[in-house]
Amino acid sequence: MRLLDIPTLLGTLGLLLPGCMSHEDMAMHDREAVVPPLIDFGSSSADFDAAPAEDTSATVGEVSFELEAREADVELADGKLVRLWTYNGALPGPTLEARVGDRVRVHLKNSLAVDTTIHWHGLRLPAEMDGVPGARPAIAPGEEFTYEFTATDAGTFWYHPHVSSDEQVERGLYGAIVVRDAGEPSVTSERVVVLDDVWLGEDEQLAPFSSTEAMIGRQGNVLLVNGRANPQLELSPGGLHRFRFVNAATARYFRLSLGETPFHVVGFDNGRLERPRQVEELLLVPGARADVLVESSAEAELTWKTLGYDRGHGTGEAPGGDLFKARLTGEPVEALALPEAFAAIEPVDDVARTRELVLRESMVMAGSHSGHGSSATGPTFSINDKVFPQGEEFSTVIGESEEWAIRNDTEMDHPFHLHGFRFQVVSEQGNAPAFLGYFDSINVPAQQTTTIRIPLEANPGTWMFHCHILEHAERGMMGTLHVAAE
Ligand code: C2O
Ligand code: CU
Repeated sequence: MRLLDIPTLLGTLGLLLPGCMSHEDMAMHDREAVVPPLIDFGSSSADFDAAPAEDTSATVGEVSFELEAREADVELADGKLVRLWTYNGALPGPTLEARVGDRVRVHLKNSLAVDTTIHWHGLRLPAEMDGVPGARPAIAPGEEFTYEFTATDAGTFWYHPHVSSDEQVERGLYGAIVVRDAGEPSVTSERVVVLDDVWLGEDEQLAPFSSTEAMIGRQGNVLLVNGRANPQLELSPGGLHRFRFVNAATARYFRLSLGETPFHVVGFDNGRLERPRQVEELLLVPGARADVLVESSAEAELTWKTLGYDRGHGTGEAPGGDLFKARLTGEPVEALALPEAFAAIEPVDDVARTRELVLRESMVMAGSHSGHGSSATGPTFSINDKVFPQGEEFSTVIGESEEWAIRNDTEMDHPFHLHGFRFQVVSEQGNAPAFLGYFDSINVPAQQTTTIRIPLEANPGTWMFHCHILEHAERGMMGTLHVAAE
């Protein structure tokens, strides 16, 4: 295997392009191919919300849902039907709702032509229900499987396949999960907002998947909010409005902003913070969630946008764009006070083991084996110089806590995700974070180190950790944590 550093590679990539362009032309072509400019389809008149999944269980303390993975034409913008892979024909798939303590059953029928699974991103559940091929095989075309687990944490989660996840998620297989408990803040309105982007070609269908785009991750040319380009929302003026954001894009970082209007974060991936935090913008990396409250005043509308963000390799040159507008109409409602505090979070301080994870990227040149796909040439990503499926393997024991220093040795940011457990961030480039929270998906900026502590509270078994730029995970930036019962 011949490995080259990515910076070296950026120079050589032009050589892969056909024709007789000048070097500058090739660089341009390359750049455009990597981050396409956004297309504006105008505002969509479709319903804002993803449909909730119908609970078919008649028993209290149990919820049951039916999902079918199948192809469907989805109207991403008015009159623009795009062939996607969906759950129940919809993008996003139906929103699953449960209460803490509920037994959750999800029956999946695979009507796709390829194997698939469902991974329950962020939920703490038994390893054999995690939807990762290994503990049990993937679900073959025509087959069915019932996932079953107990909802243990209140928060916003999501579901997606864990087989060829870069392609399957990009094609539309994802949906949100909302788990509630007795401590929900009282609000005027509440919305689940699943963010994504797709790359449409000239025929206005999904552009073919290429190995060039895999290097920075596939960043699309149409921003999607609950499966629609630029949908509209109506809210009452006044009051307190809750938005549960999910980043389901394979690679795009959303840098959320309401322009001049500050907003309040009350929770991240795995539940609530100790108190609301006022911010002017918020970085939501692929896989991550944020629970946000907005005090709406007399303005006529609120526009959620994503600002440009430089996560390396030229991505900073792509401008942001509007995500959706909320028009404030009707009778003003009474102001609601922001909640003052939520439950205290115990810092994890008793660490049994420390580990270092070094993230690297390299290029496999033609004529060598990449171990992925059919392309002989393409980027490869590693953790501790090991490329999944020959990835890093850690072994540990349930009940202990671990500290992982994740060092990003590359020229771009990587969003790090761990299955099955929640963790706290204890330092970012040597600095203690300003607040405590529980996460499962966090950013590790280029050339920086983020240190996390993971209490291995429950659920022994084999768990994955990986970059949530899914093109990177599928090209090696993934490893395995074996947690023994004793
Ligand atoms: Cu949402 Cu292994 O990922
Ligand atoms: Cu990555």
